[in-house]
Amino acid sequence: MYVCLCHGISDKKIVKLVEESGVSDIRGIKAITPLGSQCGKCIRQAKSIIQHVVLERDTSQDISVIDITAVALKKAS
Ligand code: FES
Repeated sequence: MYVCLCHGISDKKIVKLVEESGVSDIRGIKAITPLGSQCGKCIRQAKSIIQHVVLERDTSQDISVIDITAVALKKAS
């Protein structure tokens, strides 16, 4: 689905940029794409998508740290 109709930027592209380039906010996306530079109607939806992906990424990292810590504690005991 297109998020930014003016520049043809899809939700999938935004997700990919957040996942692969480490971008974590709308400023980062705007720095590497023209998203929002024309009418600006896409900004709110793009922010929502970015927040969702960042939250998901951070949550999965937290789980990984917990998993690693649990394994380390199990080996130590
Ligand atoms: S929809 Fe993104 S700038 Fe217009």
